[in-house]
Amino acid sequence: MNDTENAVAEGVDALTLNKDNDVTVATEATVNEEQEDIVNPWHVTSMNEAGIDYDKLIKRFGSSKIDEELITRFEKLTGKPAHHFIRRGIFFSHRDLHTILNLKEQQKPFYLYTGRGPSSESLHLGHLIPFIMTKWLQETFNVPLVIQLTDDEKTLWKDLKVDEAIQLARENAKDIVAMGFNVEKTFIFNNLTFMGQCPSMYQNIIRIQKCVTFNQVKGIFGFGDSDVIGKIGFPAAQAAPAISSTFPFLFGNKKVQCLVPCAIDQDPYFRMTRDVSPRLGYPKCALIHSSFFPALQGAKSKMSASEQNSAIFLTDTSKQIKNKINKYAFSGGRDTIEEHRALGGVPEIDVAYQLLKFFLEDDTKLEEVRIAYSKGEMLTGDLKKLAIETVAPIVEQHQAARKLVTDDILDEFMKIRPLNFSGSN
Ligand code: TYM
Repeated sequence: MNDTENAVAEGVDALTLNKDNDVTVATEATVNEEQEDIVNPWHVTSMNEAGIDYDKLIKRFGSSKIDEELITRFEKLTGKPAHHFIRRGIFFSHRDLHTILNLKEQQKPFYLYTGRGPSSESLHLGHLIPFIMTKWLQETFNVPLVIQLTDDEKTLWKDLKVDEAIQLARENAKDIVAMGFNVEKTFIFNNLTFMGQCPSMYQNIIRIQKCVTFNQVKGIFGFGDSDVIGKIGFPAAQAAPAISSTFPFLFGNKKVQCLVPCAIDQDPYFRMTRDVSPRLGYPKCALIHSSFFPALQGAKSKMSASEQNSAIFLTDTSKQIKNKINKYAFSGGRDTIEEHRALGGVPEIDVAYQLLKFFLEDDTKLEEVRIAYSKGEMLTGDLKKLAIETVAPIVEQHQAARKLVTDDILDEFMKIRPLNFSGSN
C-alpha cells in the first residue's frame, strides 16, 4: 500500500468538512473512536455482515436522508413515480436536492455531472447504479449531462501508462454510451484529452487548487508525504466539472447549478468542491448518493473491479454469471434445509436478494420473494436461480447494445459542441 492507501485504510479518511463546510482535519484517533465503517474513494469496508450503517454515515458526512417528504415532493413535481432505486432506499442520501427541485419548479436550468475512473476494461454491475440513475434523471428533467472519465486519476493511482488509461477510458465510454444516453444532451470527456482542448477546464482547476491547501487535502483524502504530487492536485480535476464555466461551449458564461449522482464513496471530492464553489462565485453542486452494490462475497465490502471474483462484469457471459453467483454469492440462508425451513433466511445479508433489490423492477414480485425467503419457503438455491435469471439477460442486452457502439458514435458523444437543451446559448 502507498501512503494514501495506508492512511485511508487506517481511517484517516474523508471526514473533513463539518456541517458548516469548514475544512477540518480528522485525526486517526477521532475517526476510529467514532466508527468502524470505512467509506472513501479507495476503500469501502464494514465489520458488519449487513454492510455499511448508512444512517450513521449520513450523520458523519453531514448529508441529508432522502425521506418520504422529499420523495413525495419529487413525484409531485415530476408527475411520475420515483425510480425504484429511490423508492427502495438505494439512493438514500443527498445534498441540496430541494434546491434542484426548486429550480425545476421555477423552470430554471441545471445540469447533471457524473463520472467513471477507467481502471479496468469493463464496468461491473455496481458501476451501473449511478449511471442508471443519471439516465433516468436526464430523461425525467430533460437536462444536459456531462460525464467525466478520470484517466488522469487512474494513471496516478494504478499501474497504468497514460496511453493505456486513455484507451481504457474509451472502452469504458462505450459501455456508458451503450446504456442509451441521448447524444443530443450528453457530453463525455476524458481528462487527459479534454484538458488540452478546453483551456477553461485547466483554468478552473487552477482556481480550485488555489483555494485548497495541502493540509486540507491531506485531511480529506489522507495523502501522505510520499504520495506523488499528481494525486495531491487531482481532486481539483474531479471538482472542476461541477462548475459550469468549465464548459463554455455548453453554458456560455451562465452560472448553472449542477447535480451529481454518484455512490457515496465519491462524496469527499464534492465536499471539497462545495466548499470552494461559492468562493469562485458559483453555486454549490447538489448531490444524490447511492449505497453500494455489495461484493459477491457479502456486504462487508463493495463490488470492486480490482477484486475479480467480487464482481459481475459487463463482459461476463451468462455462464460465467451463473457460476459466479452460484459459487460466490454470500447466502443469508441457514446451515441445513431443515433449519432454513424452520427459521427462514435473512434477505438483508443475502447477495442474491440484493441483486434482485437492485435489478428486479417489479415491486410486488420482489416483496413476494422477500417474504417467501424470510419464511423459509424459498431456499438459497431458488433465490440464486432467480437472481441469475434476472441479471444475465440485463448483461446480455448490454453486450448486444455495446456491439453497436462504433468509434464514430463514441466520437459524436466526445465532440466539443453545444448540447440541445432549453438553457443553452
Ligand atoms: P469509479 O470508476 O470508481 O466508479 C464509478 C461510479 O460508480 C460508483 N460505484 C458504485 N456504485 C454502487 N456500487 C458499487 N459497488 C460501486 N462502485 C463504484 C462510484 O461511486 C461512481 O459514482 N473518481 C471517480 C470517477 C468520477 C466521478 C465523477 C464519479 C469522476 N467524476 C463524478 C461520480 C461523479 C471514480 O473513480 O469512480
